[in-house]
Amino acid sequence: MTQIVKSDFRRLTRQAKKMLAERGPAACYVAAFRLARLMADSRTVPAETTMALLDAAEHAPAPWRRAIEAAGLGSPEESGIFAAAALLEGVEPWSGLGRLIQSGPDAGHPIWHALNPLYHVWRDAWPGDPAKVPGAWASNSAVTRGRSDQELIEGARKWAVEHEDCPALHRLQTLIAHRSLKTILDFGCGYGEMATWLEGQYPGLDIFACDALPARVDATRRCLDLAGLGNADDVYQCGATPWREILPTPPIDVVTMFRVTGCMDDEHLRRLLEQFRDADVRWIFETNVPDSWDMWIGRKVAEAEPIFARAGWALADHAFYAETLTPARLRDMILPAKSWPAAEWRVWRRA
Ligand SMILES: C[S@@+](CC[C@H](N)C(=O)[O-])C[C@H]1O[C@@H](n2cnc3c(N)ncnc32)[C@H](O)[C@@H]1O
Repeated sequence: MTQIVKSDFRRLTRQAKKMLAERGPAACYVAAFRLARLMADSRTVPAETTMALLDAAEHAPAPWRRAIEAAGLGSPEESGIFAAAALLEGVEPWSGLGRLIQSGPDAGHPIWHALNPLYHVWRDAWPGDPAKVPGAWASNSAVTRGRSDQELIEGARKWAVEHEDCPALHRLQTLIAHRSLKTILDFGCGYGEMATWLEGQYPGLDIFACDALPARVDATRRCLDLAGLGNADDVYQCGATPWREILPTPPIDVVTMFRVTGCMDDEHLRRLLEQFRDADVRWIFETNVPDSWDMWIGRKVAEAEPIFARAGWALADHAFYAETLTPARLRDMILPAKSWPAAEWRVWRRA
């Protein structure tokens, strides 16, 4: 069988969404399981995952125990059927699964993937080519595409709901409160959901946002405008205007980089971190997924630390967390949809 790589998985995601819309969940599950069976037949589950799964199964409540055991025994199809049955019957996702996921990608990530029938597709994926990553962002039409006003409003609303219990945001809020931070730059602001959320939460603070892509800068400006929050002039395109002309005095207290550092190669990241240091930024708050694909270099802490250290930053704190399972995301546990279950937040301080 032709090897399927991670970028193919995105096409599978699109197909699954289309199939879900046109033919309903049953057809979608059947297709997912069939593919999983095809792939799983020629694979073995790594020992670490097997051990972790069988250990977890001992503590899991009945519907999840069977799903986890089946995954541990190398049967994603059966595992998926048990997990799907549990979810469809309205059984809550077992909270222990969240705790396992929080224990990190080395133990928790494979567990989650093993519960996903398409885990076996992912597992064989090639790592991305780091040389292609920075350019990939600017040339990918799915990324450079703009959003309509309606999409922006809906996106910001969905983001806020999905992040209500997000441990990374809680940690950021603690940092802002305990260190009396007044000025925030959301670097790599995407479609402006985070900047809009920050403006809503902290009307008294100075909030700036920037992105490399003009379509995203425009989106963030419009998103803030539609929400009646913030100031469009505080959103700018990085690289287009010298920082010193834009940034306020006193300087930025914290730069937030939600899922951004992995878009850059080591050299690019180091130069950026040096700029933050030279601009007297006090803290960097980063979220990350330590997993690589063709547009993402997800560095583990041990890989990120030397890059940050060379640019004058020390790791103050970090933790893995599970992204909140919302009803809309439940099906990500079964269907081939992209989800980042082993997210990590990291707080960096000036060394
Ligand atoms: C995965 S998206 C995350 C967006 C947003 N922070 C979020 O959490 O939804 C990465 C964002 O970083 C931006 N980005 C990538 N490389 C960048 C760079 N070198 N400078 C500034 N922004 C960059 C991309 O354009 C994109 O909007």
